[in-house]
Amino acid sequence: MNTPVMSLQKVVVSFFSHGKRVEALRGISLDVASGECLALIGESGSGKTTALRAGLALLPLSGGRATLFGEDLRQVSKGRRVELRRRCGYIPQDPFGCLPPTVTALEAVAEPALLQSSRNCKREVFEKSMALLAECGLGEKRIVESKVSTSLSGGQRQRVSIARALAADPALILADEPTSMQDASNRGKILEILLRRVNRGAAMVLTTHDLYLAAAAANRGIVLYHGHIVERGPTKALLAEGLHPYTRALAQALPRLGKKAARPPVAEKTEDFGPLACPFAPRCPERFERCRQAPPLVNLSPGRDAACWRL
Ligand SMILES: Nc1ncnc2c1ncn2[C@@H]1O[C@H](COP(=O)(O)OP(=O)(O)O)[C@@H](O)[C@H]1O
Ligand SMILES: [Mg+2]
Repeated sequence: MNTPVMSLQKVVVSFFSHGKRVEALRGISLDVASGECLALIGESGSGKTTALRAGLALLPLSGGRATLFGEDLRQVSKGRRVELRRRCGYIPQDPFGCLPPTVTALEAVAEPALLQSSRNCKREVFEKSMALLAECGLGEKRIVESKVSTSLSGGQRQRVSIARALAADPALILADEPTSMQDASNRGKILEILLRRVNRGAAMVLTTHDLYLAAAAANRGIVLYHGHIVERGPTKALLAEGLHPYTRALAQALPRLGKKAARPPVAEKTEDFGPLACPFAPRCPERFERCRQAPPLVNLSPGRDAACWRL
């Protein structure tokens, strides 16, 4: 592989919340190259957003190393850090907090690109922003001129934040659950818009709890549970024949014809297995005595790794 566009190496991130230490990432490694989409898959709280933010150096690491375009953002000058971040389009999970409250949809999209171009390109930036909004299904004059904070629905705001992230033709797209607020018809369109950029050479990391979406978007996927990588491999294999019990539980929880999506059908926490145990042991239907010790992530076939004593 060429130099990865983004790389995390044994990254540990801890938060302190209500006097307690929460380890959001416990030594995860990943990388993504140009022209490739990597899916980060897991339920809420598994560490997906933290992984993206660690990649952009938006939070401190307690261990490991993260690089963007081969450079460690924590080691470079502030100016260089800004420059490297500008090559990234970050689509935050929450489109409510991330958009400036007083601006119109058009201004929100144009803003990052305006910061990067000289004054005489202003017209071009606005024209391009208009085209992007139209691509995202927001081309109506009424919407373009609407104040983002007061006049748009959650789904529309999420699409404004997608257009904004794409405005400066990013080399790396970090898409945090980018279709979570979209209805079924828009979900496919948004995915197409993002994958068009990947086909043109951008790298993308997309987070989701949905193995179908992961398989549609990415060739490679990483399944996270409580800040650990429990499995990684081709997304189609994760969907069809997960090796780790948690991956299989995620697949079983997917909505089927005539059935709604469910929580993964695994037992709730029954006993404390201690800090050294497999992170999934408390919910695992296949746990046994050995799971009191966490299994390592091991290679099982080309491009396929999992962390489970049963394998
Ligand atoms: N700013 C924060 N302060 C305290 N705990 C946090 C913070 N951000 C995330 N966490 C915790 O870190 C873990 C991973 O969170 P997150 O990365 O948001 O997961 P995901 O995106 O997969 O839902 C969760 O237990 C969450 O509560
Ligand atoms: Mg998240």
